Amino acid sequence: MIPDDSWCSPDPALQPLLDASRERFVLDPEGYHGPTHWQRVYLNASLICEAEGTDPLVARCFAFLHDACREDEGRDSGHGARAAHFAVELREQGGVLPLDELGFERVVQACRHHSGRLVTLDPEVMACWDADRLDLLRVGYVPDPARMHTAFAQRAETIRAACDRAEAWVRGSSDLG
Ligand SMILES: [Fe+2]
Repeated sequence: MIPDDSWCSPDPALQPLLDASRERFVLDPEGYHGPTHWQRVYLNASLICEAEGTDPLVARCFAFLHDACREDEGRDSGHGARAAHFAVELREQGGVLPLDELGFERVVQACRHHSGRLVTLDPEVMACWDADRLDLLRVGYVPDPARMHTAFAQRAETIRAACDRAEAWVRGSSDLG
């Protein structure tokens, strides 16, 4: 389920992280890369991890981190590296990122490379990237199964359901505007 309030974390343990990302985020919260997108990535990540038998914590943290340091709604080629740096800052601060050392390294890698073409064999990092990519319809692209890493995200039903959620958001945004 996606919460009505996009600043509310479905997992209370990740609320401090979502609050920290909210504080850092400088773009329009109603925009393409704002918290409504993060919540859909969170849901996609949860579904992928459930289907693949992967621990979802890294991908859920990624959902709330990966676009938090964007400076524009376009390509913003530095935003992955900034998100990785932000994760390091939060780690040093303590109490915000409930990850062990390996989980932390995974989320840093996932953030740093999420808009590139790097390939990974790590199921937790694959879940991050697929969860983000499944929400591409909001910016006009149907996700390509060939670019997905996990079997679950490659399925036509998974892509269709994710597109339906993204499309509902686009429709809701244009009704408001
Ligand atoms: Fe994203």
